[in-house]
Amino acid sequence: MRFIVNGPTTIHGTISVRGAKNAALPLLAAGLALDAPVTITRVPAIEDVARMVEIMERLGAVVSRGADGTLQVNAAALRSGDLPADLTGKLRACTILLGPLLARFGRAVLPQPGGCTIGQRPIDLFVDGFRAFGIEVTEEGDVTRFVGTPHAARYVFPVVSVTGTETLLLLAARTPGESAIENAAMEPEIPALAAFLNGCGARIEGAGTPTIRITGVDHLTSGTVACIPDRIETVAFAALVAACGGDLEITECAPAHVAVPLKLLTAMGAEVVADSVAGTIHIRATPPLRAVAIRTHEYPGLATDAQPPLTVALTQAQGVALVHETIYEGRLLFVDKLNKMGANIILCDPHRCIVDGPRRLHGTTLESPDIRAGIALLIAAACAHGRSTIANAYQIDRGFANIEERLRSIGVDIRREDS
Ligand code: EPZ
Repeated sequence: MRFIVNGPTTIHGTISVRGAKNAALPLLAAGLALDAPVTITRVPAIEDVARMVEIMERLGAVVSRGADGTLQVNAAALRSGDLPADLTGKLRACTILLGPLLARFGRAVLPQPGGCTIGQRPIDLFVDGFRAFGIEVTEEGDVTRFVGTPHAARYVFPVVSVTGTETLLLLAARTPGESAIENAAMEPEIPALAAFLNGCGARIEGAGTPTIRITGVDHLTSGTVACIPDRIETVAFAALVAACGGDLEITECAPAHVAVPLKLLTAMGAEVVADSVAGTIHIRATPPLRAVAIRTHEYPGLATDAQPPLTVALTQAQGVALVHETIYEGRLLFVDKLNKMGANIILCDPHRCIVDGPRRLHGTTLESPDIRAGIALLIAAACAHGRSTIANAYQIDRGFANIEERLRSIGVDIRREDS
């Protein structure tokens, strides 16, 4: 499956943001930690959610689909902690399931998790964290085995890890005693997860700060929870306007979660009006904007997932800017595809590139290497002159629901076709 895009485009209209992929995945995993069904609303219709549901169903959970993005997870019949090798390779986030599975069974098997090509993405922090909680971990080739009855622990993350924090949070919530997670990730999806668990009877304090304290409980009731808006989608749509020019109302979003990207877009010369009460962002831009340096950082810094769309916007901005990708060593490799379209980007090292703009991009044949580079290539194709083909649409569908209909509704000439 591939996308065909004809540019250049001027963006106009209104687009609503879906529930966050990176909120839905830990909430689905949380469903395995509860003693009664959980109902999750605003679940985005994306491939990564479908893979997570398939994995959970293989383990014995029953997941039923309601109307407009509602899922109900019933873990009563959960029977195994052996994650299926044919599916874990498609979804790195399956690692989050290890937390509730170890709390429930004291045993889990993880074949090599897959995911994006943005970096090596080891699981050493998960192994180290589980060992701190008393779990015995053995690594046999591509398979990692976890066995043991967890005990309360204090774990200090040497490197901030989002799903690492979520996984240990889910383990500690059901492990008797007082646990602590230090140097915890602070991404908005984590306080959202903790708030939901507390609503089900958990005792978690400090989520959203670097130190989370958890008092394990032996029972978690059911609950209903909505996925928070997808902050990465929000930035992708704003970067689309910055790259192409136009006037866009972004709705059903959480401006507070994208304060840094909005600051950068304003510094570039876009007109940004955010309304946190209404959950809207109005962005207007007339290229060329001004180039500004960007540096990714754990939340509340600039999200690494928001960097590829902003890098495309920089190719259309006046000036030279350094892009410093501090989190992943492979995430900048997609800039060679932008250079193939006519951009002028120098890759200085795996973590830095220099963008010199504005450069007129021309359509070409491309392939999406991962979710966020994929949406960045769609943005580049929308502002490029001529026809672009973007293969491996699955990578974009992993994180963006119905993307072609939604982009078409704001002026992008895009269609999907079989490869
Ligand atoms: C989460 O991945 C997100 N995924 C990623 O989004 C996001 O890029 C990342 O956080 C950083 O914000 C989900 O939430 C499902 P990390 P995660 O552990 O938790 C290193 C997307 O496109 N590390 O915070 O896997 C790692 O290599 C995806 O939506 C270890 O060294 O990322 C990275 O350099 C892509 N050992 C850094 O930590 C480990 O055991 C941060 O990664 C784990 C991670």
